[in-house]
Amino acid sequence: MNQPILDVLSGRIKTPPPIWMMRQAGRHLPEYMKIRETAKDFIDFCFTPEKAAEVTLQPVRRYDMDAAILFADILLVPIALGRNVRFEKGVGPILDPIRPDEIKSLPRDMSVLKPVYETVSRVRSELSKDKTLIGFCGGPWTVATYMIEGRGTPQKQKAKHFAYVNKDATDQLLAELADASADYLINQAKAGADVLKVFESWAEGLAPDLFDRLVIGPTRQIIEKIRAAGINTPIIGFPRGAGLNAVRYANKLDIQACAAGTDMPLTEFRGLIPASMATQGNLDPLALRIGGDVLKRAVDQVLDTMSGPHIFNLGHGVAPDVKIANVEAVIAHVRGGNPQYV
Ligand code: CP3
Repeated sequence: MNQPILDVLSGRIKTPPPIWMMRQAGRHLPEYMKIRETAKDFIDFCFTPEKAAEVTLQPVRRYDMDAAILFADILLVPIALGRNVRFEKGVGPILDPIRPDEIKSLPRDMSVLKPVYETVSRVRSELSKDKTLIGFCGGPWTVATYMIEGRGTPQKQKAKHFAYVNKDATDQLLAELADASADYLINQAKAGADVLKVFESWAEGLAPDLFDRLVIGPTRQIIEKIRAAGINTPIIGFPRGAGLNAVRYANKLDIQACAAGTDMPLTEFRGLIPASMATQGNLDPLALRIGGDVLKRAVDQVLDTMSGPHIFNLGHGVAPDVKIANVEAVIAHVRGGNPQYV
């Protein structure tokens, strides 16, 4: 049985487009909350294969999504590089900000990531053959912003400043992250991931030369290492919020799809990237929270502006307060059914 998402990633146009949603496994689902409560903390949850596999499968069962996305986090790779990562309720991730002099001698213990590969193989064995399992890592720059700043911030000013003034240390950190992330993705592919996605969630606001250095270069390093290992798994790149820098990203990297954040006009973007490259996105997650006519119009907007091979998705993740009925309505709408927006 073939997978609609793999068809699209090989350059074929599907009508209706296949659909999945970033953060489809998460706090908006009561069945997720039930399992979440049994975990000691978020990281322990990610490293417990039976629980992580179960929540990976939940949205596919409930919504009949075309893909499952591995339940894990982009900040597990820094743990393998010896960093102390915690998730605090209501705050998000907290790390000890890295100093330039620590970067030369980062430890590396990739064995801590083994439970994630077990999650992948469990999910793949339980998932039906026509559904795609997406593995992922963070883009090196996005992961580095958390390692440098110690937490999420709106503008990443401290990380950008660090990248300018500690150039060699930053390039070395990004090279380490790229190398470890490539191994992480290679092992996910070997465990059964059908597609790999690189989440460069903080690609916005970079001067073009900085974007090339901090985003395109390290991402190319990841992809080259994966391909050199003989892994031909399709790759989705997601340079969120990168504007026209995303066009260079799509044209310079060996990716099979370029995912778009909410601010990307899909029609114009299509005209600037290879015709066979798939796009993915980019429904406004805020419209999904609001629902009703606002959401209906936002879905139409994506359907009207997408062209060529496309995977329907959001421009960013599902928020915890999203109503299940509205997720169902979006899927019905995209698939030509009878959507009941609330
Ligand atoms: O369903 C899925 O999309 C799969 C799982 C997934 C998670 N994180 C689970 C998660 C994926 C693909 C990620 C990627 C991730 N993690 C990104 C890139 C995508 C994006 O959203 O921009 C980033 C920046 C992170 C880092 C991260 N993890 C933050 C900033 C937070 C806190 C914010 C929040 O929503 O709480 C997390 C925690 C996190 N990762 C949760 C989930 C389900 C919430 C934890 C909980 O259940 O308490």
